[in-house]
Amino acid sequence: MTTDALIDIKGVTHAYQTAEGPLPVLDNLNVSVNEGGFAAVVGPSGCGKSTLTRLIAGLMKPDTGEVWLHGARVKSPRSTVGMAFQNPVLLEWRSILKNVMLPLEIVPTKLTNTQKEDRARELLSLVGLEGFEDKRPSELSGGMRQRASLCRSLVHKPEVLILDEPFGALDAFTREDLWQTMHALRAEEPFTGVLITHDLRESIFLADQVLVLSGRPATTQYVMDIPTDAPRTLDDLYTPEAAERLNVLRHQIEIAQGRASDEGEAA
Ligand SMILES: Nc1ncnc2c1ncn2[C@@H]1O[C@H](COP(=O)(O)OP(=O)(O)O)[C@@H](O)[C@H]1O
Ligand SMILES: [Mg+2]
Repeated sequence: MTTDALIDIKGVTHAYQTAEGPLPVLDNLNVSVNEGGFAAVVGPSGCGKSTLTRLIAGLMKPDTGEVWLHGARVKSPRSTVGMAFQNPVLLEWRSILKNVMLPLEIVPTKLTNTQKEDRARELLSLVGLEGFEDKRPSELSGGMRQRASLCRSLVHKPEVLILDEPFGALDAFTREDLWQTMHALRAEEPFTGVLITHDLRESIFLADQVLVLSGRPATTQYVMDIPTDAPRTLDDLYTPEAAERLNVLRHQIEIAQGRASDEGEAA
């Protein structure tokens, strides 16, 4: 069976087995992301967002339901998935360049060593890290380390890029810089992405689809499409249209947290 969606999560239900018994985390979850699409996933803390990323990457199997990537059922870990997390795990004994090249040493590739290095240098320059290739991770700021981590997650041209709260630990200005870097990266290096975030502004600035998950066990509570021709400069986050979108999403989060009813009345 094939599908148009590059990522297709169909009716996934999952519970973790814990000492206290099963903990239901996902309940009949459906997520579909087209090729080249960028979906943001927001939802209450602990609702199952990171679990969702592990399913897409094939790092775990759901109890029921199916996960499809590019027309193939996901049953084992996928090297065609790139991942970046809140705390970039860079290896201190390697230079920034060598850190970015790491996936090319793990994932099979036909590239020569020179081509691998060129590829890593090209990405580093795209995110503004030209001149820092030979530095060690500890010599860089938090924002720069996250830029390097983004390069590493893209270096092997993954089919899917999964970002699990990648900007959560950065200060507001650095975070906004990184958002703009993401747009620049996507223009040069188109990818299909899933971004887990707590930041609603980040979700509408970066994604073309925002999914609000309900509280645990998570199901898809609300989907907002952001027109791809919507302006994407930081100023556009302060327009009435943006304010309206943020309002709707904020209300949906309140519903997910059980703090509001879906009648439109805050509880
Ligand atoms: N390996 C695991 N075993 C048992 N419980 C887990 C495991 N991983 C996560 N959980 C629990 O499952 C729930 C969802 O976790 P997670 O997907 O990390 O949520 P989120 O990323 O939305 O904060 C949380 O209550 C968490 O404590
Ligand atoms: Mg998480």
